[in-house]
Amino acid sequence: MSLLSRIQMFDQIENVIVDAGLWPHRVHPLLMAVDLPGAVFDAVYTASREYAMACCGPGPAGLWPNMTPNGLLVPKKEFEEPYNHLVRRYLDVVRTLGIGPLIEAWHVAFSLRIKFGEPADRSLARPRASEIIHSDSWAGVSNKSIGLMIPIFGDIEANHVAFYAPPDDFHESWLGPRKTYRSGGRIARRYTRIPFVMSASQAILADFALLHVTERLPGAGTRGSLDATFTVDRGDPTIPDLVHPDRDLEMASHAQVDGLGETWRLEFPMSVDDPVPEDVGYKYSASFRWVPIE
Ligand SMILES: [Fe+2]
Repeated sequence: MSLLSRIQMFDQIENVIVDAGLWPHRVHPLLMAVDLPGAVFDAVYTASREYAMACCGPGPAGLWPNMTPNGLLVPKKEFEEPYNHLVRRYLDVVRTLGIGPLIEAWHVAFSLRIKFGEPADRSLARPRASEIIHSDSWAGVSNKSIGLMIPIFGDIEANHVAFYAPPDDFHESWLGPRKTYRSGGRIARRYTRIPFVMSASQAILADFALLHVTERLPGAGTRGSLDATFTVDRGDPTIPDLVHPDRDLEMASHAQVDGLGETWRLEFPMSVDDPVPEDVGYKYSASFRWVPIE
């Protein structure tokens, strides 16, 4: 039942994007790729490069002192300006898609990830390594969410995210927080790989009922991509609210997020000299606060 209403929500999103003058590719009823206008992608590409370059420098933990084992460049107070600028350009993409009126709330923050061609052993050893097939709801993010990912640069053809479709008897109880991604293996085996490879300059919208995994082909190079997730009003009692309390605290309304850069900015108290924690449980890797812009 709930799959049908999830698909109907994707129908609504597709209609809104078409009304915005873009052409979504509906590669699966719960997966969409939208080619972004050149100027919009160029702006988010440039902002991503600037943030990545600001983060890159010798530090106690190597060349990327603020990188988690999963490749997330954790915002720190030294990189606040380029990070906030990057978030504004990401939100320009949301405005270009025209999907704002459908969005209830965002899971903050917005993440730039660098995925090297070879995963680090310490990454693969993590209970929630992105190289293990999963739903982000298993990491505690609300099952009512939709992911919005933008592949930005690098070898995206050989180093990307692959998506998996649920069977017709999908059940909402398959979602919700799990201590490890491997514990969802029995569910994952029921899913089917969707034959789709993303490209740079696309926005990828993926419903949380899909599973996904970081996929690298032999000889893959490095990739950089942006991602965040938002919830929509499902209006469906067969979709319960499955969210970890820590993640729930990190949610912000679309109106508040849309004001980033004008009425709000994100402030990060931790320094690059503070080590990136290896395991933060269900919390986001950076602590942050919302600061009103005078
Ligand atoms: Fe994920």
